[in-house]
Amino acid sequence: MDLQKVKAFRWEKGKLKILNQLKLPHTEEWIIATDYLQVAEAIKKMIVRGAPAIGCVAAYGFVLGVKYNKENPQKVYETLKNTRPTAVNLFWALERIKKALSQGRDIEQEAIQIEEEDLKTNLRIGEYGKSLLRESSKILTHCNTGALATAGWGTALGVIRSAHYNGNNIFVWVDETRPYLQGARLTAWELVKEGIPHKIITDNTAGFLMKKGLVDAVIVGADRITLRGDTANKIGTYSLAVLAKEHKIPFYVAAPLSTFDPNLIYGDEIPIEERSPDEVKNCFGCSIAPDESDALHLGFDVTPAELIDAIITEKGIVEKPNEEKIKKLLEL
Ligand code: MRU
Repeated sequence: MDLQKVKAFRWEKGKLKILNQLKLPHTEEWIIATDYLQVAEAIKKMIVRGAPAIGCVAAYGFVLGVKYNKENPQKVYETLKNTRPTAVNLFWALERIKKALSQGRDIEQEAIQIEEEDLKTNLRIGEYGKSLLRESSKILTHCNTGALATAGWGTALGVIRSAHYNGNNIFVWVDETRPYLQGARLTAWELVKEGIPHKIITDNTAGFLMKKGLVDAVIVGADRITLRGDTANKIGTYSLAVLAKEHKIPFYVAAPLSTFDPNLIYGDEIPIEERSPDEVKNCFGCSIAPDESDALHLGFDVTPAELIDAIITEKGIVEKPNEEKIKKLLEL
């Protein structure tokens, strides 16, 4: 297995190469950022996306801005911080670079370390998580949580990868994930590259498949997890958790510790990104709705801890998450 088969970004001393995820799966176009403003734009436009990947790329953006563009650190920090509001990994990574800067450490080295740590973390999540997926399981996943959303391997998709390489004979139902189509365009692309059997389904198919006994477990990633375990993830995740509960199917979240927000207790406190209605009303430049209609485009929803059977982290599996268990995990 090749850990570098899929990369969302590559740091090459003073240059950040970003794979343009807006163009996948049919075109592999790399954007070369030499300026922190290009990085901020890439995060905002979702050229690069996925909580851990956003964190890594923002860290490199900080390095470009301060070390290479010689810009004011506070200005660079604020610009990168204001790109997307929900994934806490973005703020976590920027804080790490800010701290390194204030301690006079090499911020480029710190950003490289954030990237390397994320890859190792995902491999550990995969090792823990694969024990939860039974032999010959049919797994349903939402959005893209793979190598494209991280520094490599992936979180929820990393668990699927690890189970596949363990010989578990895994089959994946891939939610297409409207409107950006992270599932159909990105997760399916990664699964094709790995040779993992799968089928893409429209987002409204999951309930019926569950009723027919065709789903053994649901596994998703996370953008922010509060101290009580409430979890923000791609819009549609909450509906899957409710459906899984109704059909007595295990519902798992896979995420690194950098996705936990020690400042929040309840899911209602998580800022939910609202994106342009145009992204719902158009599909790849084609209008699919009347011009007169408005649309609501929430990027994320929150699944309450009570609907989550386990959170898989690099430090182990937290079953039936609650505030006491998560504080212990985070050593708070
Ligand atoms: O809007 P996106 O594509 O950045 O949203 C991504 C997700 O919701 C992922 O599930 C989450 O970031 C976890 S990625 C390992």
